Amino acid sequence: MHNRDMRYTDQSLPVGVVAAPLAGIDADVLVIPVIEHEKPPTLSLADAATGGRLVTAFESREFTGKANTTFVTPVVSIDWQSARIMLVGVGSRSAFDHGAVRMAATTAALAARERRWRRLAIALPAVLPGPDEAQAVAEGLTLGAFYSGIYKSDPDARPALIEYLIALDEGLDSHVRADFDQAIGRGYILGACSNLARSLANEPANTLTPRLFADIAGQVGSASGLVVDVLDEERLAGLNMGLLLGVARGSAEPPRMVVLRYEPPRPSGPAVLGLVGKGVTFDTGGISIKPSDGMHKMKTDMSGGAAVLAAMKAIAALRPDVRVVGVVPLVENMPGGRAIRPGDVLRSADGKTVEVLDTDAEGRLILGDALWYARHLGATHLVDVATLTGAVGVALGRTTSGLFGTPAWWVDLVGRTANRAGDRVWAMPLFDDYREQLRSEIADLTNIGGRPAGSITAALFLKEFTGGLPWAHLDIAFTAWADDALPYQAKGPTGVAVRTLAELSFTSDSWPTAGS
Ligand code: BES
Ligand code: MN
Ligand code: ZN
Repeated sequence: MHNRDMRYTDQSLPVGVVAAPLAGIDADVLVIPVIEHEKPPTLSLADAATGGRLVTAFESREFTGKANTTFVTPVVSIDWQSARIMLVGVGSRSAFDHGAVRMAATTAALAARERRWRRLAIALPAVLPGPDEAQAVAEGLTLGAFYSGIYKSDPDARPALIEYLIALDEGLDSHVRADFDQAIGRGYILGACSNLARSLANEPANTLTPRLFADIAGQVGSASGLVVDVLDEERLAGLNMGLLLGVARGSAEPPRMVVLRYEPPRPSGPAVLGLVGKGVTFDTGGISIKPSDGMHKMKTDMSGGAAVLAAMKAIAALRPDVRVVGVVPLVENMPGGRAIRPGDVLRSADGKTVEVLDTDAEGRLILGDALWYARHLGATHLVDVATLTGAVGVALGRTTSGLFGTPAWWVDLVGRTANRAGDRVWAMPLFDDYREQLRSEIADLTNIGGRPAGSITAALFLKEFTGGLPWAHLDIAFTAWADDALPYQAKGPTGVAVRTLAELSFTSDSWPTAGS
């Protein structure tokens, strides 16, 4: 059954590369990127093939190159192989960056897919000059291939897989050509792994239980050459992970903890990057139950865990020279006869006691034990990714994830890497005084800090479990899912943070070593 086959796959074909004259490229649509108000160098050539329609569109201002707009016209010349030409806007020169390129490529891919064109070629020459731009194009095209309707019965609802081709300048030096090929391959891997995370986030909670997530992680991890360990409830109990086991109690589904390890052939130093992702396969809120309106969205409460799994797959394929360990704590947060109650006190694996004043603040509980475990496994630098608080959406909206952590150099590095990778983030403060809000009458801390600064107190809770290591936390509660379709972003799961985590593993040369 094709529905099942499509699940948890990357859903895209590798992006092809060719260096040939544009006229000879045979595609359903040949895309030419345009910077706003700048006629691309290939325009006059292509214009002749369309009977002058491209220049007319420019001159009448029907198309200006404004970001993520498109203009399509048939090819009339019999000397050109492609059926149509599409202009896609990259936006203004002053705002030109990899993000603009990535979004324009996704715009073109989604526009072509909607019209059921199967072969899309995109011309890079001059407008998008270097391998980095080519990587962004490959990422954007691959992201445009994601399909979310796998449970639809009508086979016509399903788009034909698009074949993508990137057209380079003819006569490129062979070294330059090799750089392009590598960058495009990298972009494809990052896009495809983002799509893997999206397919997991999209999966309903009745199929994607903690056990199934762990099974998939085992398959993906082994197929990628990662070392996989899945901890079941007995081992979790043996490690005294009382926070995670406490959250899991209300569910009939047993918890799991997935550990994925990447060992480079020649590690460049002693650092071990620890990636931790929240894996709540469904969050009802537990006894502090959520209102039913919109509760179905809580199937996406494992998006951070999916990002870590998908980033580990990308890392295994791209082979950075730093050790990486990925940890994904998996639970279903349900109310049940055995569920924890508000006021219960739990003990974490590293011995801290927590008074659970709200069972809906479960993410920080399972992450507390997972951060400890990442340290226990030797992580020296930590990043966690979690759909942690509604409050982050109040602060930053739907386009920007909250960034928290310490020390500043580590947080800055994660922030710069994220913004370059197209996962927009903004740093929030972690002043010590906010810690007061987590004070408990009877235990070491409570699990909620009240309404003011809700995302910050959640982050400060996590900080208690980082053992003073460099640590950054990404709150993706409002960025993991797009509520509205945009030209460059389909409605649904976004795959946020996958590219950030994978790219971060390539920055280890710039990490100060202990004692320096
Ligand atoms: N999974 C939610 C956070 C969330 C909210 C994700 C909206 C995506 C969209 C988290 O477990 C949660 O329930 N957080 C509470 C914390 C509160 C009880 C302190 C929240 O944000 O309301
Ligand atoms: Mn919750
Ligand atoms: Zn949650």
